[in-house]
Amino acid sequence: MIQRVYVESQGCQMNTYDAGRVADVLASEAGLEQVARPEEADLLLLNTCSVREKAQEKVFSRLGRWRRYKEAHPGVLIGVGGCVASQEGADLLRRAPFVDLVFGPQTLHRLPDMLARRQAGEGPQVDVAFPEIEKFDRLPEPRAEGPSAYVSVMEGCSKYCSYCVVPYTRGEEISRPVADVLAEVRQLAAQGVREVNLLGQNVNAYAGALEDGDSADLGLLIEAVAGIDGIDRIRFTTSHPAEFHSGLIEALRTVPELADFVHLPVQSGSDLVLKLMKRGHDTAAYEELIARIRAARPSAVIATDLIVGFPGETEAEFEETLAMVDWVGFDGGAFSFVFSPRPGTPAAELTDDVPQADKRARLQRLQARLHEQQAAAHRALVGTTQTVLIDGPSRRDPNELGGRTTGNRVVNFAGDPAWLGRFAEVYISDARAHSLRGRAVAVEGEVMDHAAAGAGG
Ligand code: SAM
Ligand code: SF4
Ligand code: F3S
Repeated sequence: MIQRVYVESQGCQMNTYDAGRVADVLASEAGLEQVARPEEADLLLLNTCSVREKAQEKVFSRLGRWRRYKEAHPGVLIGVGGCVASQEGADLLRRAPFVDLVFGPQTLHRLPDMLARRQAGEGPQVDVAFPEIEKFDRLPEPRAEGPSAYVSVMEGCSKYCSYCVVPYTRGEEISRPVADVLAEVRQLAAQGVREVNLLGQNVNAYAGALEDGDSADLGLLIEAVAGIDGIDRIRFTTSHPAEFHSGLIEALRTVPELADFVHLPVQSGSDLVLKLMKRGHDTAAYEELIARIRAARPSAVIATDLIVGFPGETEAEFEETLAMVDWVGFDGGAFSFVFSPRPGTPAAELTDDVPQADKRARLQRLQARLHEQQAAAHRALVGTTQTVLIDGPSRRDPNELGGRTTGNRVVNFAGDPAWLGRFAEVYISDARAHSLRGRAVAVEGEVMDHAAAGAGG
């Protein structure tokens, strides 16, 4: 009898969100308890990512370990979900015949039925279809974990950038109706959630049905979410430069709950590379958009994603990326990667004469530049006071509290664990490479003793 499930999620925030829903649906429909360590579980689920080769390798190394565990513990079942499962389908069983369940991002709500059939003695179960948006109609109420929550507002991607697997693993873009999203946010707010992060691969392409038959863009959705009692901070991830419509700019201008943070992947600073990537915009359009965002919200912190070593990328084209980084100033940091050819994508077929060593050297140069920018942005905050949503113990020191500023910067400081889930005003005393340190000067619902508040800094 399967009673306890361990769910591990790799890859992006959409996968993290899905993993939470997997646990919810197995709890409500199959009575399974979620556990924090694989050794405590009799069902092991891996929510996988295939965006780069390394991510995919990580899947098979984790499954190798789980196979040995299963062999030593008869009765244990293994399931694989997410993007590798979606891409491989039943083929996954050829490479990993010990797997019992293969489910996709759109079929995770069917897991309880798949599990029941497997337990009834049927063979391995595979279901990686894209049944439109059925999943959201079938999922139970989400369980909040802490004051901050993800809410998926759309699924899939229809951009087909030439290097990317996501449209093949997640299907075409499809938006959830506005009323559904708002109902989910209300359920989370009722459980004490203060901050929601609206998720989609191209979240700014959101076009959700309204009850009157019209459709709402992301700006309108953000306004409606801001109107929900208890929700004091809203984020959205990830935006695509080609569809950052005026409604969203307007929301940045007028919705105070909307955080000072925009993650806007640019991938390259070369027009030729952007064209080969099929991003649908050039560098001038990106820079113009940054200017519009900053005009609407001067305090916006900008983060990005960058790929170096795209097939045929010349030294000069790479330097254009460095110039773009200098011009924009990604004070929110950047995820940067060496191009990874993914089977089935058009870019994997391009002739590539750039040596791997050059690609790695470019990545190092780029990252050094990005780190400098972020360090300078952190130093500039020393001596200011920031509003931080306290979301848990600090990662570095469990005796401290941690949280994020509106600009998405991690701040650690001494404080009372009872403050978890509240907003605090924190004086920033010190800047580190990836975080800030400070001391709380005011906390919601607390009368501060200033001597004690100052003690932590
Ligand atoms: N939808 C978002 C966008 O368009 O920017 C992000 C999608 S992807 C999950 C996250 C990042 O992975 C991308 O922004 C890109 O920088 C990187 N990425 C995707 N495919 C890649 C590949 N084949 N090789 C290297 N990096 C890749
Ligand atoms: Fe991939 Fe491009 Fe879609 Fe982003 S927009 S998920 S990079 S295809
Ligand atoms: Fe990875 Fe799939 Fe997300 S490929 S990055 S888990 S959409």
